[in-house]
Amino acid sequence: MCGIVGVVGNKNARDILMQGLEKLEYRGYDSAGILVTNQNQNAKLIKSVGRIADLREKIGMDVAGTAGIGHTRWATHGKPSETNAHPHTSTDGRFVLVHNGVIENYLDIKNEYLAGDAFNGQTDTEVAVHLVAKLAETENISTLEAFKKALTIIEGSYAFALMDATEPDVIYVAKNKSPLLIGLGDGYNMVCSDAMAMIRETSEFMEIHDHELVILTQNAVEIHDLEGNILSRDSYTAELDLSDIGKGTYPFYMLKEIDEQPAVMRKLSQVYADESGNVKVDDAIVQALVEADRIYIIAAGTSYNAGYASKYLLEELTEKPVELGIASEWGYNMPRLSKKPFFIFLSQSGETADSRQVLVKANELGIPSLTVTNVPGSTLSREASFTLLLHAGPEIAVASTKAYTAQIAALAFLAKATGTAIHNEKAANFDVVHELSIVAQSIEATLSEKELIESKVTGLLETTRNAFYIGRGQDYYVSMEASLKLKEISYIQCEGFAAGELKHGTIALIEDNTPVIALISNNPKVAAHTRGNVSEVAARGANVVTIVEQDAAIEGDDIVINNVHPYLSSISMVIPTQLIAYYASLHRGLDVDKPRNLAKSVTVE
Ligand code: F6R
Repeated sequence: MCGIVGVVGNKNARDILMQGLEKLEYRGYDSAGILVTNQNQNAKLIKSVGRIADLREKIGMDVAGTAGIGHTRWATHGKPSETNAHPHTSTDGRFVLVHNGVIENYLDIKNEYLAGDAFNGQTDTEVAVHLVAKLAETENISTLEAFKKALTIIEGSYAFALMDATEPDVIYVAKNKSPLLIGLGDGYNMVCSDAMAMIRETSEFMEIHDHELVILTQNAVEIHDLEGNILSRDSYTAELDLSDIGKGTYPFYMLKEIDEQPAVMRKLSQVYADESGNVKVDDAIVQALVEADRIYIIAAGTSYNAGYASKYLLEELTEKPVELGIASEWGYNMPRLSKKPFFIFLSQSGETADSRQVLVKANELGIPSLTVTNVPGSTLSREASFTLLLHAGPEIAVASTKAYTAQIAALAFLAKATGTAIHNEKAANFDVVHELSIVAQSIEATLSEKELIESKVTGLLETTRNAFYIGRGQDYYVSMEASLKLKEISYIQCEGFAAGELKHGTIALIEDNTPVIALISNNPKVAAHTRGNVSEVAARGANVVTIVEQDAAIEGDDIVINNVHPYLSSISMVIPTQLIAYYASLHRGLDVDKPRNLAKSVTVE
């Protein structure tokens, strides 16, 4: 959350900063700002409430320079306002800073080091820039020393980019827990919260690790640790594709990403199987799983829901119990673990701070771990024992779609590989490549029914305040994800319920015209019971829509989807619910890709 960008040594600094912020907007979009400076120490600082487009409107052509820093904000401390927008400035105007993260001890710092200082806003960040200024002034030390000392005082998470008006061609950078990456341009250098926002300028990157400080100039990247040692680090080339981050002719990224799912399924088969259909997953990962006595999946939000959707498949093929953990809870509330635990972190971004805090603990405890992520080189990927990539291409819409289905598919390959290693019979009979190709076809068939799905939304979800998804077994897990999707982009209060639980309380909420969407996959054991629940809510006035797998369908069902293997039904069942959320948001006149209060990458705990 929050995105930061900086550039030094390029006469197009303003445009580079603005283009970077546009690409980072998914990380937060309640306010933004840039500082552009040049050798003559003519600095211009412009901030604006709202989107990057609002900032762009405020920036005149006279704003030009060779260096600068920029920020797009997702508010943590202090409401969205111009005052609270970054960059923040020291009282004397010498230091200017942008920050992503949370300074946990900012009130203590205020009291202990900055008593008497006047602050403009309510952010924790302002305290950091005042602290650097205070240390530089009172201790008469260089900016580097003052920044370094400030970092030993500051507790919490941060990615900082700091500029000093007396050195307009230098950016000081530091990181702890929040993502930050150096980009090496041709004759200039950059820093940014993610690589995708820099690929227009460069494909050459350099990592920064926690508790490091970097001095960035036009021709040099000098990495220091907090003890004062200068560290050497190689850069690396990342072949990222600029066309991946455009939305083409689509009105919203979310629709594009929903449509990409058949291709993602096929891509995963290319990556994780050979031409004869034999599964290829790193032997070391499989061996670590074989040795474990229990699998723990730790994740947040949609990724957590994908963990549930994969639980049955993993348990069946690996013969190990699978336990789910909400990352934000496990940071404090880790349950008693088995003797040989194996942790799987599911994370589209690979940057979720809640998941990372659990990974840090797991590493301290020596627990082997696997990150399943869409972003190579992300923090969770770097810090786990192993990585399995999702190969879904950049997911830009805040509401996650293709990462959810890719996570289940990637775990299917892992389950198959592990099951094969332990000679599990069900694994032997599960042809994952073939079954995923059927899933891809099923998704395509559903995608060709967009008009039908849209027509179901019209009337049902245009004005309602609440709605329910119900299902049993795998369908219950899908209903959790379906309801999250609807909530986050349409603002309809929606819950996903285990259909059997209705009569234990929830059915009291059903009244005339309450929308209830029932998910019924082709599992005879549960389909008949869910049908019973559909009748119960319909008898109490609910407006019911059914989403049903073909072999379980009856006359009058609303949305019928092609059958797939029961291990993978969560993938095909979720597609109509993604479209329902999309059209509900669209018909309610909302910004589908950037729902209020949210950010794509949640890098604060
Ligand atoms: C919802 C959504 C979020 C994320 C969650 C975890 O559509 O995208 O719930 O799933 O913030 O993010 P990652 O997967 O990046 O760890």
